[in-house]
Amino acid sequence: MNIFITGVSRGLGKELAVHYTGTGHRVFGFSRSALDFNDGDIKKLKESAGFAYYKGSINESSDVKTAVDEALKFMGGIDVLINNAAYKLFKPPDEITEDEYGESIRTNLTSQILVCSAVMPHLLKAKSGKIINLSSNAGMTHYGDGTAYCSSKAGLIAYSLSLADYLKDKNVSVNVISPPTFSTGDYRKTSPGINHGKLVQSESVIKIIDYIIFNKKFITGRNFPVFKLKTLIKYAFLKHIEFIDYFFQLRLK
Ligand SMILES: NC(=O)c1ccc[n+]([C@@H]2O[C@H](COP(=O)([O-])OP(=O)(O)OC[C@H]3O[C@@H](n4cnc5c(N)ncnc54)[C@H](OP(=O)(O)O)[C@@H]3O)[C@@H](O)[C@H]2O)c1
Repeated sequence: MNIFITGVSRGLGKELAVHYTGTGHRVFGFSRSALDFNDGDIKKLKESAGFAYYKGSINESSDVKTAVDEALKFMGGIDVLINNAAYKLFKPPDEITEDEYGESIRTNLTSQILVCSAVMPHLLKAKSGKIINLSSNAGMTHYGDGTAYCSSKAGLIAYSLSLADYLKDKNVSVNVISPPTFSTGDYRKTSPGINHGKLVQSESVIKIIDYIIFNKKFITGRNFPVFKLKTLIKYAFLKHIEFIDYFFQLRLK
């Protein structure tokens, strides 16, 4: 498989790149930082003939175009697009500046759309392909200091499911994954004080991505939430209230 992944310099994106190059697939990565080849995982990527990357921002349309062109040159085609890059901003809404809101919506929503739009013509031409977008539990539930992040991730779910509907008869699938806070190798290094054993592990998220990529069935238009029980209860409660509100509105008519 030829897999294009955004945000490979650290976290889940880096682990996905290591996982797929290590299992014989070709990976083209795209992130702003130069990859740190002193990092053991990234060293593995450097040594793999199946990996190349472009240093640029998904927020720049010229970078997106160049990255897609370079990916096509390196891999000969794109079978899977994993939109993983994100800007995680958590702050009280009255402290978030206009620029920060702009960057959050731009990175987590508008630029994800831009990358999908740049890759889509190649998938349509090949008459097959898979798009997997990384949203978050935050796009389905709400947090007071998550106004920027939650709204951008909720938008990404709505966009992904709408695009799936548009592409459903064209053999191009679109799915979205909405995990809760999960632990990655890098997160364990940068935040050793957190009890990582209590968190969902990045391996569980990778398993879902594997499930979508390698399933023989055409899976599309699905949001995989990877809920923890506490979030599931909160989400079920919110949906329950919406349901009650719906019947209440019927009574008002
Ligand atoms: N970790 C969690 O607990 C969690 C929970 C739910 C959902 N998610 C979602 O899962 C995905 C991966 O999370 P993560 O924790 O691994 O993220 P992360 O550690 O913050 O890494 C984000 C990646 O995105 C890249 N990136 C950011 N802005 C970019 C831009 N403008 N252009 C290109 N690349 C950019 C970063 O690289 P550069 O800075 O080098 O560009 C980095 O490689 C994200 O979509 C996140 O929202 C994460």
